[in-house]
Amino acid sequence: MSSFDLPSLMAVLREHPVPLAHMIALRDMVAARSGKANFLFGACRDPQADGSNLADPELAVALGGVMLGEWPMAVAAIDAWGQAVLKNKPETVLEFGSGVSTVVSAILMRRIHGDGAVRVYSVEQGEAAGAETFAKLRALGLDAMVAMHIAPVAEGVVDAFAGVGYDLSVAEMGAFLGGARPQMVLIDGPFGGYGARFSTLPVAHPWLAPDAEIWMDDALRDSELSIAYWWTDLGYLRDTMLQFTAKGVVVGTRGDRPAQYADAVGALAKGEMTGHVAEYILFKMGVQAAEDDKAGLKPPFVTR
Ligand SMILES: C[S@@+](CC[C@H](N)C(=O)[O-])C[C@H]1O[C@@H](n2cnc3c(N)ncnc32)[C@H](O)[C@@H]1O
Repeated sequence: MSSFDLPSLMAVLREHPVPLAHMIALRDMVAARSGKANFLFGACRDPQADGSNLADPELAVALGGVMLGEWPMAVAAIDAWGQAVLKNKPETVLEFGSGVSTVVSAILMRRIHGDGAVRVYSVEQGEAAGAETFAKLRALGLDAMVAMHIAPVAEGVVDAFAGVGYDLSVAEMGAFLGGARPQMVLIDGPFGGYGARFSTLPVAHPWLAPDAEIWMDDALRDSELSIAYWWTDLGYLRDTMLQFTAKGVVVGTRGDRPAQYADAVGALAKGEMTGHVAEYILFKMGVQAAEDDKAGLKPPFVTR
């Protein structure tokens, strides 16, 4: 593939989601040749554009004058999310990382349900960013439709995995959601370095609707490609696809029975050997192999 034509491939892939594994193979080839991390994200993401370019007329008016694509999601990703929300008509959505996306989801949920009930659950890392989001919501009469939980970014552990992420336990997530079982999830935070989004899906998983649709933005980045890979490997996510548009969007379905290794970590520490401990040791060997692969995606967590 010496005459590999990335722009033509990108143009085709914009409209056609591909299995995550294919995009990781492309990423690995580009990384090996360029020697650069995040090459796809740096070279191929859409430029910023004004919110008036959004396909949905109500969203285009509400977000006219707002530049999209740097911190907020980009136009093509919001268009795709909006279409999916209108098609799926979820009772509730859960997002990680508030801002424009919160406004978008609240507008669409108001259109679908026509009531003032809480329909958007938002986890946000910063008080100031959360207050800014609520100011935008209030200006559009949407604040009653959004519940927000502030969880700063910190070192933590979920199941057998340590790393940086929202300071949010599985129990706290459940308490925040009350009885809601979101059918769609949009992961666009936290801001916090490599692997910071890994814990979001494991923490939310028990509280989601069985076949919840899971979206993650910024998926052309090495961190997010790696996170989506390991979520899929562990069974938190299935049918994982990546659309090569905006900043890259991962879309998959909530897995039924993810691997749970916390017990195996405890048993291993006591020197016990069971089938589950053996399975965990094999898993750790896979993680080690990924760490040792120089041009490959680094795992987004440290195993305990
Ligand atoms: C990728 S942003 C989330 C964007 C949001 N989903 C949207 O569409 O606007 C992730 C987090 O970065 C923080 N953030 C947002 N804008 C920022 C900025 N201009 N500078 C620094 N941090 C920012 C917020 O805490 C936010 O939750």
